[in-house]
Amino acid sequence: MATVAQSIDNNGLNSLENVFQAFVDNLGDKILILTIFDFMTFIWIQASKQEMMALRLPTPPFVVTTSAFHIRKRRRPPPPPVPVTAVKLQCFGGVDSWENFYDCHQNKQFFKDRHYLHKDWGQYFSNGNIILLEAGCGAGNTIFPLANKYPQLHIHACDFSHHAITLVKSHPNFLKDQINAFVCNIAEENLCDHIMPASVDIVTLVFTLSALSPEKMPIVIQNLGLVLKPGGHVLFRDYAIGDYAQLMLMNKNQVLSENFYFRGDGTCSFYFSEGLLRELFERAGFIVVDVNTYNREIINRARNITMQRRWIRAVFRR
Ligand SMILES: C[S@@+](CC[C@H](N)C(=O)[O-])C[C@H]1O[C@@H](n2cnc3c(N)ncnc32)[C@H](O)[C@@H]1O
Repeated sequence: MATVAQSIDNNGLNSLENVFQAFVDNLGDKILILTIFDFMTFIWIQASKQEMMALRLPTPPFVVTTSAFHIRKRRRPPPPPVPVTAVKLQCFGGVDSWENFYDCHQNKQFFKDRHYLHKDWGQYFSNGNIILLEAGCGAGNTIFPLANKYPQLHIHACDFSHHAITLVKSHPNFLKDQINAFVCNIAEENLCDHIMPASVDIVTLVFTLSALSPEKMPIVIQNLGLVLKPGGHVLFRDYAIGDYAQLMLMNKNQVLSENFYFRGDGTCSFYFSEGLLRELFERAGFIVVDVNTYNREIINRARNITMQRRWIRAVFRR
């Protein structure tokens, strides 16, 4: 009777195949008992029925004859995800991660103002006294360029990070008559506790929805709908599936769920498809005005890499 215990590593599959084939070729009237402990480690025993009975072998998970070989030929499963405990899962993307993030990057040079937004959406900001809500305003990189370009805008800006709101309020261009900055968790608090219901013309959602877990997205969109005027718009810009950063997170196995990843600093990012985005807003009663995916190749000569950056820009009407 022959017994072999084998642990397969990534490079050992071919040699294992040969060993296995040799066993199968020499089976004769013997049978092969294959016991798989996990997908990488297993033991097989080549024994006749008499030998098995003499040894009082327990019924193994697999008793197979030469057809055992197909077990080996199954597609290798993908690498297991990094073990994430339920406790940790709750922490990813939570307020503590973002507080740490803004604490570590107090230096405002880290944040780059988004000077391109008026080119994309200028038509929505230039119609007289517009009331805007920037949901998840961070350090204010969306609101300050807009406030500067459209002084007649009245801006509500909220974030669940106290540090972020402090950064906004201490910004040299912060005007308290123009900007109402406040702490609010848009996935847990009713925005109407901070802003009059149906009073806002435009909500900007710029790289914020991706920071939330997919289960929370419908709640957030409903919440935004409560403060938007009928006919008001959500202006959306965020990561699209296939973005360079997604591929990096995928390679590092930092997956939480489909298209949802955690970063090293505990913050999260989701990568949207046009279809899912439409569905999320349509289910919340919005009308899709426009959804488009953009692609730009960025070359980092210092690091000698080419990055495909992908993002979605969309407009929804309430
Ligand atoms: C990538 S930053 C985007 C900041 C800003 N919109 C911009 O254009 O630069 C995402 C922001 O969403 C905030 N955020 C994440 N989850 C939130 C929640 N549940 N409620 C409020 N803000 C949240 C984070 O604190 C962070 O400031």
